[in-house]
Amino acid sequence: MSEPKSANITWHGAIVTPEERTAAVGQRGAVVWLTGLSASGKSTIARRAEQLLLERGHSAYVLDGDNIRFGLNKDLGFSPADRTENIRRIGEVAKLFADGCVVTLTAFISPYRADRDSVRAIMPEGTFFEVFVHADLAVCEERDPKGLYKKARAGQIPEFTGISAPYEEPAAPEMTIRTGEGSVDACAMQILDHLAKAGIIRA
Ligand code: ADX
Repeated sequence: MSEPKSANITWHGAIVTPEERTAAVGQRGAVVWLTGLSASGKSTIARRAEQLLLERGHSAYVLDGDNIRFGLNKDLGFSPADRTENIRRIGEVAKLFADGCVVTLTAFISPYRADRDSVRAIMPEGTFFEVFVHADLAVCEERDPKGLYKKARAGQIPEFTGISAPYEEPAAPEMTIRTGEGSVDACAMQILDHLAKAGIIRA
């Protein structure tokens, strides 16, 4: 981890302990990190999982790729360095949400293994769940909800993931969800089941 640019800064801890916070809020926080190609289904699954969690009385929130690029990360593009910075910032934000006992679902391509591993490294043990949202490139290209693959194939979008920029599949994700094979509900429930087994939420 790199050192902060600022000198003369001091870390201030909370008065409440993590255990006291968990008891007060009634749940543990976690980061559910969805990674996969554009149009693989990350946002769809994350949003349904969020809804199912909220319906069950849990606190949950989705940080979503395109949306974050309208605000927090509006200064970033799609070069390798910008993608790394994108994921670093999202990782830090997700960590804060999780520290506040929110089940935080993130839906970013996050194409580089090292970047995802860096986020895992800043999270407390057992609170980071990498979810490989798996759909073949041909399937994503067929779906093409935003028409971006078509544009990328036509050479109108440089450095497009899967076409002219890399996607590094997770080596050992906590979960793999094949979006071509089950309903959105079934895919979202896979996440809830996993969180329950891991003791993050009540079964
Ligand atoms: S990441 O690679 O830095 O993790 P992120 O998830 O934030 O990407 O944004 C991906 C979304 O941006 C895609 O779903 C797509 O809508 C849009 N996009 C625009 N240009 C590109 C590009 N060159 N590569 C991938 N996605 C792009």
